[in-house]
Amino acid sequence: MDSKVSALLNDQINKEFYSAYLYLDMANFYSRKGLDGFANWYEIQAKEEQDHAMLMYQYLHNNGETVTLEAIAKPDKAFETLMDPLKAGLEHEKYVTSLINTIYEAAQEVKDFRTTQFLDWFIKEQGEEEKNSMDLITKMELFGDDARSLYMLNSELAGRTYSAPSLVL
Ligand code: FEO
Repeated sequence: MDSKVSALLNDQINKEFYSAYLYLDMANFYSRKGLDGFANWYEIQAKEEQDHAMLMYQYLHNNGETVTLEAIAKPDKAFETLMDPLKAGLEHEKYVTSLINTIYEAAQEVKDFRTTQFLDWFIKEQGEEEKNSMDLITKMELFGDDARSLYMLNSELAGRTYSAPSLVL
């Protein structure tokens, strides 16, 4: 594998684990606020991020590459309002989309079509993650100021269940 593509994928493993950490911190925030449904939603999000990291880890191994695990940064976003994590989540997903696009571009430049095909799943996944983040913001804008509606929204988010990624390597 091209050394730049390999290094970017290796770095992305760390970024995905950081994402998991960031979402766990959001779950942590909502737990403290007594919103267990929101906490559940973000705990599952954190699990998905770990899956993303592990898919990249496995992909590099499958291609004979060495994986180097670096320190995971401390989640450093401060949340005050119930909206804060939702907006931070959307910003973060846009950032991750840009990272995936950069890897895709690097792979395309060296005609590494196996990697672009691998990344196709992530490109689609990023579209879903950005949409999910935007939907949450919209719902909070609509219902967040009313206690009963917030209770209903919290109950809805409590219903999110985890399922393993559909991507098979
Ligand atoms: Fe792994 Fe939320 O992107």
